[in-house]
Amino acid sequence: MAMIIDGKEISLQVKDEIKKKVEALKGQGKEITLAVIQVGDNPASTVYVRNKKRGCEYTGIRSLSYELSGDAAEEELLALVEELNEREDVNGILVQLPLPPHMDEDRVISAISPLKDVDGFHPQNVGNLCIGRPGFVSCTPLGIIQLLKRSGISIEGKKCVVLGRSNIVGKPMALLLLRENATVTIAHSRTENLKEVTREADILIAAVGRAKMITGEYVKEGAVVIDVGINRDENNKLCGDVDFDTVEPVCSAITPVPGGVGPMTIAMLLHNCLESIERE
Ligand code: GUN
Repeated sequence: MAMIIDGKEISLQVKDEIKKKVEALKGQGKEITLAVIQVGDNPASTVYVRNKKRGCEYTGIRSLSYELSGDAAEEELLALVEELNEREDVNGILVQLPLPPHMDEDRVISAISPLKDVDGFHPQNVGNLCIGRPGFVSCTPLGIIQLLKRSGISIEGKKCVVLGRSNIVGKPMALLLLRENATVTIAHSRTENLKEVTREADILIAAVGRAKMITGEYVKEGAVVIDVGINRDENNKLCGDVDFDTVEPVCSAITPVPGGVGPMTIAMLLHNCLESIERE
């Protein structure tokens, strides 16, 4: 029987640790503030933003909400980001993605001060991760490292296959695993003989965005399987990129969807907010 990695429980541990540190900082008269910007009313974004604000509330981090209409000009968003960059009482800035099609996401992300970029998306933070310097790191991959470590799964020397090459998950995930001394392969939609590649993995991270694509055939006996996907199956039920029913009997540990990686993303955002003040 595979170990089910309980992301809800582990994220609660992380949040409770953060809560204590936030209280201690308050005792020194320091408050942490996260500014959250949502443009438009994408329903998924609304849910994510609400959960991020709830996480702030739980840990004692102050959150400021900014809602711009879906047809706001990019200049309006850039002016808001600039104002928040300047504000001394704002430690972190998060612009929820995706932005409406008329906005240039790269330009907006680059406008956020790298010192307040708690998402870790700014090119300067991505570059710092790449060359092993301190900086903010994207929350989902950071959360996956915590899930592995806190479940007693060692990474050093292991063969890790990251399936997916997005800037938010796949690429930073590969860099973080490398930092933990794993041997890392990035596979993607154009990889030939994909099953052979994934079957090499001691730790397989699935971040492809295709419902239940990874079946038991893709997994080596005893591997650890981390499922980053959040999809809807044919019955509109939430599911991951991993076909849990055929993979669970093969692997040694697996994250469920929901309740695996998802809650860790928010916990690591709060962790990054705390870091923003510790690094000042
Ligand atoms: N959209 C989906 N995931 C994320 C995230 O981690 N941060 C932001 N800002 N937008 C997202």
